[in-house]
Amino acid sequence: MSKSEIQEESPMEVYDANTTAPLSSHKAHHASSIRDVSSYWSNLATSKLEWFAPHVGGASGALSGSLIDGSVSWFAGGKLNVCHNAVDRYCHAPYDRGNDVAIVWEGDEPTSVLRITYDELRMEVCRISNALMFGGVRRGDVVTLYMPMVPELAMTMLACARIGAVHSVIFAGFSADAIADRIQDANSFYVVTASEGRRGGRVLPLKSICDDAISKERCANIVRRVFVFDGKDEGGDKWEEGKEGKHVRFTPLVASMRPVCPCVWMDAEDPLFILYTSGSTGRPKGLVHTTGGYALFAMVTTANSFGLSQQTGPSDPHNMSNRDVYACVADAGWITGHTYIVYGPLLNGLSTFMFESTPMYPDCGRYWDMVQRHGITVFYTAPTAIRSLMRYGDDAPRRYDLSSLRVLGTVGEPINPAAWKWYYDVIGNGRCSVVDTYWQTETGGHVIANLPGITPMKPGSCTLPCYGIDLAVLDPTTGKEIETSPAEGVLAIKQPWPGMARTCLGDHQRYLAVYMKPYPGYYFTGDGCRRDEDGYIWITGRVDDVLNVSGHRIGTAEVESALVAHYSVAQAAVVGIPHEIKGQGICCYVTLVEGYPETDALVKELYLAVRTHIGPFATPDMIVVNGALPMTRSGKIMRRILRKIASSELDTIGDTTTLSDPSVVDELILKVDKFF
Ligand code: WTA
Repeated sequence: MSKSEIQEESPMEVYDANTTAPLSSHKAHHASSIRDVSSYWSNLATSKLEWFAPHVGGASGALSGSLIDGSVSWFAGGKLNVCHNAVDRYCHAPYDRGNDVAIVWEGDEPTSVLRITYDELRMEVCRISNALMFGGVRRGDVVTLYMPMVPELAMTMLACARIGAVHSVIFAGFSADAIADRIQDANSFYVVTASEGRRGGRVLPLKSICDDAISKERCANIVRRVFVFDGKDEGGDKWEEGKEGKHVRFTPLVASMRPVCPCVWMDAEDPLFILYTSGSTGRPKGLVHTTGGYALFAMVTTANSFGLSQQTGPSDPHNMSNRDVYACVADAGWITGHTYIVYGPLLNGLSTFMFESTPMYPDCGRYWDMVQRHGITVFYTAPTAIRSLMRYGDDAPRRYDLSSLRVLGTVGEPINPAAWKWYYDVIGNGRCSVVDTYWQTETGGHVIANLPGITPMKPGSCTLPCYGIDLAVLDPTTGKEIETSPAEGVLAIKQPWPGMARTCLGDHQRYLAVYMKPYPGYYFTGDGCRRDEDGYIWITGRVDDVLNVSGHRIGTAEVESALVAHYSVAQAAVVGIPHEIKGQGICCYVTLVEGYPETDALVKELYLAVRTHIGPFATPDMIVVNGALPMTRSGKIMRRILRKIASSELDTIGDTTTLSDPSVVDELILKVDKFF
């Protein structure tokens, strides 16, 4: 189908940035990729990754198991090492790219820039691997990483992969409580942190937050060692031994190690990492990603979605014009950073960018300054960042030369058309593809995205499924697949794909209950969607109790449990509210235990309780204290009504006569009104 065909059929605006291939051939390629997913992915696994031993069962046997019982496995019996594939292989023939840059790091200050070549990366990763093993880490151990956005974070992830340890990275915005929960859940004997990090001119006291976590009773008997990197700007002068004698000053230990460390042969189905994410219940779940399937999916989706190709030979130092400078400015503590800062780009032999600071530091031109200084060609960020920069107008981006840009990526939440257009017009100057990538921690990589130069774009739609992804829109009540378009329902995936998380650590029943059982035979995403007449997908948001605040996934139940843990709180109900910059904000309704009057100081404590339990990024936008909440006669809190009140959608509040005390609604409306 050509662009003009789409435009005629659809009333939506359609943008076409330099289409180089017809959409019909893309659609045909997609259809053939899902006809036999086992062979499709097996052929890619053989051509894209270096294996120490091939998987068993040939192309048609690459996939086994089913979504129904959650027994999916890819390339089982195949032996490989992800660190070898992401680092070592590029250092020798036939790639010979040891002198090419693997990581460009830009620190909190625009003047602190490091370039690390593939050779340097290999040697440093080997030293870290040896240091971890010297400290006791063995294959299969879970190593918790609580680190700033410095190259050592990526290097330690790769070192874990090298020695067969399983990393569990915790975003550096999480609190000591949240770290302790995750260490306990994963039974993680080892923790790697840094004495401090920096962000937006502020110091992040990571080691002291970590120390708080491991001194909690639930961790004290689990953690055996804490490896502490020196902060980037200090020479270890801030080094402080923890009181338990578990701390190892890591920077000098690493420096003293041999820069050679063999890669462990891992099975394709061995776990590569765990990443915790929020769900509908209070406890975050540790999703387990595997070695072979995840690596392949990360590698292939990075190349496809951003129009990049695997770097197969040494770069020509005299001709940099055809080289991409790829920059994903997310944090490596989230899945976006795992797949599209660390694994995806390095597995393709690209150079990847690590950014420690914020888009606002030292001013709102920071991103555009970086694009100009580094000649960035592919830039990947979240709608919340775009919206917050948009507020400052067009002057900042206009001050910089953004002509190197070719592809602009977005991830994390639906992008509203106004932000899309600003990104396209002002940042991309109407020349670049805006790639809207829909995916989840669970999917490991992109599952819906447009291909730059191929898929015509509609602002706000993540467009069409990626290769090898068999999407389905289901009727939420009958569970039946809706085959015709347009359609509206919940988004599901019909056949296994290599990047899918295989289980929730230590709780396969929960994995089945959340993803596989709601619609038997399908993987359920938890998102609602619309599919238009062109087959384009429009994500309408979560259909469960998960909020998306500035692209961070937060379970309402997590916030509620933080609140009810406070001595003064009797009941808490948390709902999302539309927020101009963050996408969604957090609104908490609470009732207090008898005898605790509502004071400013107490409400402040409640805000703090959420920050302490989860982290500052989950700070509520409003906390509404009232004598009662709207309940049904059977005692259930009516969240639907609370949502309507919080979003001021009073005309669609619906029937309130079934409430045990309908007057509560008016009280709450008055209280919420005061916040605006
Ligand atoms: C949402 C982030 C619309 C969605 C990679 C999903 C999106 C959740 C998009 C996963 C997008 C992510 N358009 N919605 N392009 N990308 N989402 O696990 O609700 O942090 O289920 O993974 O973010 O969030 P997670």
